[in-house]
Amino acid sequence: MFLSQLSHQKVLPVLVLETKEQADWVGGCFVEAGIQHLEVTLRTSKALQVIEHLNRNFPELSVGAGTVLNAHQIQSAVDAGSRFIISPGATDKLLESAQDCPVPFVPGVMTPSEAMRARDYGFGLQKFFPAEAAGGIALLKAMGAPLQDIRFCPTGGITLSNMADYLELNNVPVVGGTWLVTPQALADNDRQAVVSRLNELHQALA
Ligand code: 3PG
Repeated sequence: MFLSQLSHQKVLPVLVLETKEQADWVGGCFVEAGIQHLEVTLRTSKALQVIEHLNRNFPELSVGAGTVLNAHQIQSAVDAGSRFIISPGATDKLLESAQDCPVPFVPGVMTPSEAMRARDYGFGLQKFFPAEAAGGIALLKAMGAPLQDIRFCPTGGITLSNMADYLELNNVPVVGGTWLVTPQALADNDRQAVVSRLNELHQALA
């Protein structure tokens, strides 16, 4: 279900939001663009409140937590109403505690062994991170031959200019990235900058 929704959306925006005010205008942009699933990283002090706020005030959105690094953060993210949880990595402790996670959990991997271990724990959709630095499309293609049942969401260095090449791969139903909402756009409260990037995305996916 979650995988098919993400496959349909094709791009999972990754947001680093500091305040509910930012969340309000950014959330509005995504609602207007018809993009439902958003990842809000737990990299700011108010991230959990932002996730709660977005899910409560924008019923059209489904907001999950990203940059979840340990069992404690899984619990906090679930308590805040996160609709899904994404990690840049996959420690044993994290994979074990994610077994009881009531919402979809996406571990982060970069090598075949990491992907196989996460698969052993039952996670067939994995974040491939940091995608470009790790070897990008060539590595994902190579991993796809032996690891046929694993699906990857490459993240890290994905932009409008390379996303289509990733999405052409059989094992890549969705890509993730921060490029749609830049730190500069947030600092300037530049709604138009975000709308422009969303328009570009819309055209690229058409
Ligand atoms: C993440 O948290 O998923 C990454 O920081 C996203 O990488 P990007 O900024 O290169 O899109």
